Amino acid sequence: MSEQIEIYPDADILAREAAGKLLQLATGSVAARGRFTLALAGGSTPRKLYALLATDPTFAAFPWAETHLFWSDERHVAPDHAESNYLMVQKTLLSSGEIPEAQVHRIEAELPDAGEAATRYEATLHAFFSAPETQAAGFPIFDAILLGMGPDGHTASLFPGSAALAERKRWVVSNWVEKFKTDRITFTFPVINAARTVLMLVAGPDKTEMLHEVLTEKADYPVRHVQPDGAKIWMLDQAAAARLPQEVRA
Ligand code: 6PG
Repeated sequence: MSEQIEIYPDADILAREAAGKLLQLATGSVAARGRFTLALAGGSTPRKLYALLATDPTFAAFPWAETHLFWSDERHVAPDHAESNYLMVQKTLLSSGEIPEAQVHRIEAELPDAGEAATRYEATLHAFFSAPETQAAGFPIFDAILLGMGPDGHTASLFPGSAALAERKRWVVSNWVEKFKTDRITFTFPVINAARTVLMLVAGPDKTEMLHEVLTEKADYPVRHVQPDGAKIWMLDQAAAARLPQEVRA
């Protein structure tokens, strides 16, 4: 794994730089393999990034016709629910209508049984990544996975103390998240860590303390177990990076 830290003045510049990075990764993946497989992060941080990709002429060359979108996690709600990560992406990124519907692979989180939703998504991934060259050690190789980080050090829906943290065989699982009193559906660490590139998008003062603990103190939180075979790139704004040592912030 190669790990790098990039710090930008504010969340708007961070979003623009992340969009540029994704355009670069997408172009390279299509040139090399004829497609770009991207798993999206939920939450609020990526909204600006998704909106830029959908609307800003700077990113008009994004190879949507060759791009396949997935979600690294989803809340156990219907796709039209305010909490839905799919809905957030639908309103920001998919509104451009540029990506063929058949290339948008959402998690069916409306199913009453979250475990069934996880199993069905896992089957979707197994079908899509069926060719041997699309797997590593039995896990799908995504060209890029976008992740965020919560103030508690969770990423995707891999929360401190949750059962999914220990999963090393399954590709997608559901697990109960006590702090939210709900089930979540999530990629497991082996899937995340098979990626060619993982972009960690972290912004805002509410992440300052946890970033300090994770990047400076090396404290053991779920986000530290993101150790991809490929590149791990932290893309931060100054506010989130405020307590990182000078040599990191340069
Ligand atoms: C989710 C995300 C989650 C998110 C972090 C950060 O479903 O909420 O996958 O892991 O990335 O909680 O969320 P914010 O970007 O809203 O701070």
